[in-house]
Amino acid sequence: MDPLLAGASPHSRGVALIGSGSAQAAQVISNNQLGLRVDTSDEWIQSRTGISTRRVSSPDQRLSDLAADAGRSALAMAGWSPKSLDLVLLATSTPDDLFGTAPAVQAALGATNAVAFDLTAACSGFLFSLVTAAQFLRTGSMRRALVIGADQLSRFVDWDDRRSCVLFGDGAGAVAIEAADEDGLLGFLLRSDGSRGGVLNLPALDSNEVLAADARHRQGGYRPIEMNGQEVYKFAIREVPAVLQCLLERCAVGAESLDWLLLHQANQRILDAVADRFAIPRPKVLSNLAHYGNTSAATIPLVLDEAVRDGRVRSGHLLASSGFGAGLSWGAALFRWQGPA
Ligand code: UT7
Repeated sequence: MDPLLAGASPHSRGVALIGSGSAQAAQVISNNQLGLRVDTSDEWIQSRTGISTRRVSSPDQRLSDLAADAGRSALAMAGWSPKSLDLVLLATSTPDDLFGTAPAVQAALGATNAVAFDLTAACSGFLFSLVTAAQFLRTGSMRRALVIGADQLSRFVDWDDRRSCVLFGDGAGAVAIEAADEDGLLGFLLRSDGSRGGVLNLPALDSNEVLAADARHRQGGYRPIEMNGQEVYKFAIREVPAVLQCLLERCAVGAESLDWLLLHQANQRILDAVADRFAIPRPKVLSNLAHYGNTSAATIPLVLDEAVRDGRVRSGHLLASSGFGAGLSWGAALFRWQGPA
């Protein structure tokens, strides 16, 4: 049905975040299990990252399965029929299909009236997608959107590289957003700097194959994740406080007014450093790194959903969120949760 006919007011300029969901990869992998494969230890990983276990998809678990499960549970919380969706936006760097996995998720959900597409911005993908979806709602061209962050970096991690393999895991999270008169998305800032992108990559293979007598081509495929951890760390603790500071100033909101700091879950030391810059007490910093590690585009909606379901994040709460990662890409959003009380 045309969303405008379905009731979206062309004058709605706000966005309400009203449902969340998440889904977990099947297998739990402990630090000690990784220590049997590479030269590392539970003590090193916990003290440098805060991670004790991560979840890894089983070979038969597709990205679209995780994404659809997370989406289904966000729809249930919002109380929406899948058919009422106008948009399914999937933030991922690890699609099942490079042509796009969002349509498979749309089909699995039965969201037959929704347009569906992927958006890739690595660990900033969920935040970038939330803001992108919000633009359709603000113009009045759409009424309801499901924004999903899902990644299976386990498919691209070099499990013999101790400098990176300890960090990553798989997962999915989703948020249901709707056009509303009262705006729950108070502000956002998005940033990219491709000139610094070489510190974190999942690069295409450098192949050079014969195509025909006088022609060659590059065969598709990817190398495992390559990361300069120290440089990514420095980037995060410099840029995340800066973008958050800028956003808070623009919105005239003091850090003391925040109910929660909702950061991309990459390293507990990064969460702590950012919180300290704003004198935000630790209990207001959402973290589930210990159990999931870095699930890329999934971290923000995954930790949000946990906190909504266990009653920490409640309707009316104000959250400052920041995503950051490969690209380089980063950004921040300030929003009020308006889910069921
Ligand atoms: O979404 C963004 C994704 N990426 C990130 O968020 C990464 C951000 N960076 C980080 O989180 C940290 O830089 C790491 C956790 C990756 C590394 O922590 P670090 O404190 O920066 O360690 P380091 O790279 O300075 O390495 C210190 C030592 C080195 O040994 P030497 O040269 O001092 O002898 C490493 O070889 O620790 C060694 N090391 C390890 N030892 C045991 C590196 N990885 C491991 C490991 N186990 N897994």
